[in-house]
Amino acid sequence: MTSAAPSDGSTQPRDPAASVRFGRHEPAGHVLVHISDTHLLAGGAALGGRYDVEANLDATLAAVERTGVRPDALVFTGDLTDLGEPDAYRRLREAVEPVAERLAAPIVWVAGNHDERDAMRVGLFGGPSTREPLTGVWDLSGLRLVALDSTVPGWHHGDIDADQRDWLRGILSESAPHGTILAMHHPPLPSHVPFFDILELRHQEALAETIAGTDVRGILAGHLHYSTSGTFAGVPVSVASATCYTMNLQRPPQAVNGMDAGQAFQLVHVYDDVITHTVVPVVDAPTGEYFSAEWVAEMARLSPQERLEAFSRKR
Ligand SMILES: [Fe+2]
Ligand SMILES: [Fe+2]
Repeated sequence: MTSAAPSDGSTQPRDPAASVRFGRHEPAGHVLVHISDTHLLAGGAALGGRYDVEANLDATLAAVERTGVRPDALVFTGDLTDLGEPDAYRRLREAVEPVAERLAAPIVWVAGNHDERDAMRVGLFGGPSTREPLTGVWDLSGLRLVALDSTVPGWHHGDIDADQRDWLRGILSESAPHGTILAMHHPPLPSHVPFFDILELRHQEALAETIAGTDVRGILAGHLHYSTSGTFAGVPVSVASATCYTMNLQRPPQAVNGMDAGQAFQLVHVYDDVITHTVVPVVDAPTGEYFSAEWVAEMARLSPQERLEAFSRKR
């Protein structure tokens, strides 16, 4: 196990931006920030000699802070480093920990195929250098988050082996007040990009059997370097794109390749009856100012019918 952050006991949404209600849903009870595939290198080196992965991570983290969200956790779904170098893990902590501190949010580190278990355990958790899976369980005010380790040491494809499935089965044998979200690197989804299927998660039937009938409400994953979603064993799966570089999907599947554009992270809003995964592109673009805090306050003063008249009626 890695670590488990205690619940702060709060049942109120921590996101002040979610504190007004104009529609049918109460504000989300939990909010997660889902980031993936940072691929940092020792010495701040450029990935492949062309991607400034540290600058791209910094831009992503700045964008996270600009949202004003107060997340229950920052979840990084793997490929945290490109080569598993100790200095790369050190640099990752240096970049992310001050942000997490300002947001008062725990960091959930998930291992990816580019990570190395021993270096990651030493570098991020201060643990002993072992090749045991890096898994963990967090109680986020009643929402359970389980980090799985889908890596196979020495390989780039994924697997959740029988021991880890047994461990997961034990965790899931009791349900959590607001259900469970799994975080893992390799998504249990097909990819329309053929080379990703060589590196897919193996033994998916066994994992499906493990989570069947449990309180698992969602799966967060990475690995693909593009945003996508689907279902696995009836559970919604959401894949966050990468911060380092993304796949240019404006090409035929066989010719897809990397580009230094299109980076994004996701805001995960957990409601009582549904979870939404909102892709936030990391861009610098001029933005209108119409929907201001004053406008929201004005809407809040109106009755629901007055609000419809003011904002829904076509002129
Ligand atoms: Fe990756
Ligand atoms: Fe990966």
